[in-house]
Amino acid sequence: MSHSYVDPEQRLNDSDNRSMGELIAARVTRRDFLKAAGALAATAGLPLAGCVSGPTRPAALVAFKPVVVSTADAVIVPEGYSSRVLYAWGDPVGHASGSPAFAPDATNTAAEQALQAGMHHDGIHYFPLPYGSNNSASGLLVMNHEYTDDGLLHADGFANWSAEKVRKSQNAHGCSVIEVRAQGGQWSVVRPSRYARRITATTPMTISGPTAGHGLMRTAADPAGREVLGTFNNCAHGHTPWGTYLTCEENWDGNFVNTGALTADHRRNGITPKGRGYRWNEFDERFDAGKHPNEPNRHGWVVEFDPYDPASKPVKRTALGRFSHEGAWYAPAKDGRAVFYQGDDRQFEYIYKFVSRDRVNTADRKANAGLLDHGTLYVAKFNDDGSGEWLPLVHGRGPLTAGNGFGDQAEVLVKTRAAADAIGGTPMDRPEWIAVHPRTNEVYCTLTNNPRRGADKVPAVNAMNPRANNVFGHIIRWNETGGDPAALAFKWDIFVLAGDPQHPDAAKRGDIKGDAFGSPDGLWFDDRGVLWIQTDVSTSVLNRGNYERLGNNQMLAANVATGEIRRFLTGPRGCEVTGVVTTPDGRTMFVNIQHPGETASERNDPAKPQAVSTWPDGPSGGRPRAATVVIRREDGGFIGS
Ligand code: FEO
Ligand code: CA
Ligand code: CA
Repeated sequence: MSHSYVDPEQRLNDSDNRSMGELIAARVTRRDFLKAAGALAATAGLPLAGCVSGPTRPAALVAFKPVVVSTADAVIVPEGYSSRVLYAWGDPVGHASGSPAFAPDATNTAAEQALQAGMHHDGIHYFPLPYGSNNSASGLLVMNHEYTDDGLLHADGFANWSAEKVRKSQNAHGCSVIEVRAQGGQWSVVRPSRYARRITATTPMTISGPTAGHGLMRTAADPAGREVLGTFNNCAHGHTPWGTYLTCEENWDGNFVNTGALTADHRRNGITPKGRGYRWNEFDERFDAGKHPNEPNRHGWVVEFDPYDPASKPVKRTALGRFSHEGAWYAPAKDGRAVFYQGDDRQFEYIYKFVSRDRVNTADRKANAGLLDHGTLYVAKFNDDGSGEWLPLVHGRGPLTAGNGFGDQAEVLVKTRAAADAIGGTPMDRPEWIAVHPRTNEVYCTLTNNPRRGADKVPAVNAMNPRANNVFGHIIRWNETGGDPAALAFKWDIFVLAGDPQHPDAAKRGDIKGDAFGSPDGLWFDDRGVLWIQTDVSTSVLNRGNYERLGNNQMLAANVATGEIRRFLTGPRGCEVTGVVTTPDGRTMFVNIQHPGETASERNDPAKPQAVSTWPDGPSGGRPRAATVVIRREDGGFIGS
């Protein structure tokens, strides 16, 4: 989702008033940084979890002919590559109980939608079959369906609003698990499949970790505070070395309204009297936070589930904190504990990491079932001199006391943002995806944009967020002390300032070595160490104003050793490109195209569903659909090399 709106209730942090010259001087130099990173790479030499044995990786990291910017209503990939749609909104998942076909006029019922792909595909991961193998021809694709455009979801949009329409929207949210198989390089969805699964906004899930059963988690429908219905507005994701998927709740606040009094926590998390127009509260009362003030406390978490066990109940892992989770990305601590990096995607919000208390059990995957329930959540503090530290959000430490409104650890976690405010995390320009280099453990994070940076009454520019009116965004990176993801200090640098080199305003040109882009969001390292960057330019500014020369949203590949960036893919009109993974052999790539055809208002006119795009079905297809696309090299080679 592109977040073109500005929330007037947004919390504002103290500003840093130093001059731009002082700030730039304070930044660690690129040369020093590369020297440190090189030393780290030389000593690390780690074959890490997720690295693949097998065919030797090509030496040339990024070696395709880049594509040019495009405003075409198509997915465009480089010469020698092909792209094909695999799984679009409304396609049957493959349940044994039924496989209803997509109705191009959007007349599928809510019950049918629960057996079909949800809307607005986002984070995605490939799990080989069987678990523990490197099978690159048979596996499970697990993905998020972030939100709904009800102008496209129903034949008549919001007209004649009903319980059935609310339930259809709820069933179009959540996740898909599909079984996929390749024969002769051609991928298809296996139907029926014993693994086929949809998780929706009403799927029962367990509340686990320090908040389970706490008073703040109890509601009229769940007086024990231990079970919640559903997950929604799941943006990016993560996966664990024990083969589970993490789906992360981002703009969950917008599904609520509050017709009564806003609490401090409602304000801090962006809940408003009107919400963002989902209108679920009209037929599902728990989405009125005025009537059910604790229901929002049960959302804003990371949810873990096991795609290999379709009967398993998803679990909200509350030890990882509550905010607008972009995703949760694993890194291996040197002593065997698990680390998960997390961005909070709002203007002036924070970067977090969770470090587990216990080590990962590599012999018995099921033994890790409670691993995410115990550990320490930290918020990042970036210093202008290129150093940084991780501040623990632990009850009783520093200001996190009962006297300041944090009665126990559960309350610290429910009020994660307030705890991070109190302890002094660094407000960033919308932290989105995070990617960990597979050999050096160097961490990269997209800061997608923040037009309000440097405005009145908000945090000023600083070395980490160096541009006022940051409409193009940047990518920051850091190295933990000793190359250990569990370390409590790090050195950071800015990898790239995005922008348009032809922009008349020099401050908006960026410093990209290669192809221009803005609003970086999706970010993923393949196991060769190529960094894939996906963009989410809001449809309210796409192809106009600052973005008039940058075309549709796109995906690029970066060689992080040289900084060179090449454009690999351009998406259809009105889309966001988000979610990317390859098979373990690196020869098939899956990319999600989200919200093709989105209008500047982010909701379509149901009378004109093809106003912006007809992708992927063409004019006879009824309406545009988010979809997973399969990308192959025509010679069957490694993607991107
Ligand atoms: Fe859903 Fe932060 O993008
Ligand atoms: Ca985004
Ligand atoms: Ca995103």
